Amino acid sequence: MTLKTVLVTGGAGYIGTHTMVELLGQGYEVVCLDNFSNSSPEAIKRVEKIAGKKITTVTGDVRDREVMSRVFKRPIDGVIHFAALKAVGDSVKRPIDYYGNNVGGSIALLDAMHERGVHRIVFSSSATVYGVPEKLPIEESAPIRPINPYGQTKAMVEQMLLDWCMADATHTAISLRYFNPIGAHESGLIGEDPHDVPNNLFPFITQIAIGKQAQLTVWGDDWPTPDGTGVRDYLHVMDLARGHVNALEHAFGIGGHATVNLGTGNGTSVLQMIAAFEVASGKKITYQFGPRRAGDVAACWADPSLAQRLWQWQAKLSVERACADGWRWQQQNPNGYRD
Ligand code: UD1
Repeated sequence: MTLKTVLVTGGAGYIGTHTMVELLGQGYEVVCLDNFSNSSPEAIKRVEKIAGKKITTVTGDVRDREVMSRVFKRPIDGVIHFAALKAVGDSVKRPIDYYGNNVGGSIALLDAMHERGVHRIVFSSSATVYGVPEKLPIEESAPIRPINPYGQTKAMVEQMLLDWCMADATHTAISLRYFNPIGAHESGLIGEDPHDVPNNLFPFITQIAIGKQAQLTVWGDDWPTPDGTGVRDYLHVMDLARGHVNALEHAFGIGGHATVNLGTGNGTSVLQMIAAFEVASGKKITYQFGPRRAGDVAACWADPSLAQRLWQWQAKLSVERACADGWRWQQQNPNGYRD
């Protein structure tokens, strides 16, 4: 049996749009389910424009049974599940919304898949499940100790998927633990579109360059890292998108649950990121140092060798390339999809 039609939940979001481009480019049919709570229908039009192909879109929530019966009207061969809330600080303030959406949503999806005999899922997890790392690089066998409700929801869904696979040998699930996705598709047509002031470093920098934010505060200059600023593993979103398609393809016919890191294996500091972006954009990024941000760690990067061994996946695109692509998206769409 060949894989043909893929359901992408949360497909209109940042990683979802880039993954749909990759799926369409590799010849898959795509059904996108999104409730547009934090995304825009325009994003789907842009994906269709890049790929030159149509996407079947269903608007609604994964927890809505009527919506799910519309989604599964057509045969679905596999699912990539992104639909979730994702802001760490917000998850501390309204944890039950996070458990409801992220855990409750995944339960509803697995129920709907079970009813229609769909047995394969790739889950959008996060390196945040590791919490404060004990050693670097982080391997998949590192302890799972999330430090906020958002991370807890990701760890819980991973556990659920493991049990779901143990219960039936035909079930396959792959939880992808992403490090820090940045950048955009090279066309500049799709990219990250934060609705509020960005919390993450990369979209904050691109918004400074476009004049929407005045100045970056670098959270801490006294971390135990070479230049004193936080170090992360920044991964081009198109490399990440390709990782999802690889995971889905290679999961076919293999039962069980796998947890797999997707990262470059290299660390970049905040100051190095600023410098790389200044070169790519020709813009000056003004910054000041502030105190350490609560919940931050000094350094975090992946051991990505499992993805390499399983699927010959490795990150190909540099941080410099991600800066150039992310800047193109920001320049062409100063107000994101609202333009
Ligand atoms: C954050 C989340 C993480 C989530 C990830 C998604 C926290 C504590 N962690 O990771 O759970 O999976 O986003 O992409 O929110 N920085 C500044 N100034 C800024 C913003 C960031 O100096 O205005 C620094 C941070 O201190 C850090 C680095 O930039 O050293 C990267 O920060 P960020 O982009 O927020 O990612 P993470 O903290 O790694």
